[in-house]
Amino acid sequence: MSTAAEERARTPSESGVDAHIYKVFPNDMNANATVFGGMIMATVDRICLVVAERHSGRVCVTASVDDVHFMAPARTGDTLIFSAACNRAWDSSMEIGCRVIAEDSYRRESRHVVSAYSTFVALDADGYPATVPPLAPETEAERARHAEAGLRRETRLAHAERVRARRGGAATRG
Ligand SMILES: CC(C)(COP(=O)(O)OP(=O)(O)OC[C@H]1O[C@@H](n2cnc3c(N)ncnc32)[C@H](O)[C@@H]1OP(=O)(O)O)[C@@H](O)C(=O)NCCC(=O)NCCS
Repeated sequence: MSTAAEERARTPSESGVDAHIYKVFPNDMNANATVFGGMIMATVDRICLVVAERHSGRVCVTASVDDVHFMAPARTGDTLIFSAACNRAWDSSMEIGCRVIAEDSYRRESRHVVSAYSTFVALDADGYPATVPPLAPETEAERARHAEAGLRRETRLAHAERVRARRGGAATRG
């Protein structure tokens, strides 16, 4: 297997998904007549998976979802616009961030409805974690997301360690 140092660094724009459109219909509603959050989460997971697979060139699995923030409801008739990018790559894992905008397409008014951050792990042919290429952020925003992903990983590892210690050393990952 090649090491990360041997892999060509890839930019976020090489793997990102920009403005994937989903038109909301009445069958997407929950009992509160707003868009069912589980549908949005499933779509986010699929789109982020594609980003992880494009970046790594491998089959990937969702390891964890750190943050899903529902900032505002989406309603029937809205157009949901999903954009996702690789924020950072480590050895075998990658943080993928996704932003969802709800657009009133009649008035061309948009609002930010969801931000989500997930960790995906690339697998080799035997199903074991495999090295992924480094990520080379290019823009100011990409560099900021890269730094913030490091903070989330620190928090995740510290949390896993606290849980491990509380359970008397039984392994938890992160
Ligand atoms: C994710 C998975 C492959 C990790 O396997 P593992 O044997 O724990 O792997 P390791 O301990 O060697 O860790 C491998 C990487 O996964 C990361 N990882 C493991 N568990 C994690 C978690 N809960 N959250 C975030 N990252 C995690 C590690 O930090 C490590 O990253 P790095 O290589 O970039 O440093 C394994 O736990 C798994 O298969 N989980 C089920 C995935 C799944 O079914 N998802 C839903 C359907 S897609």
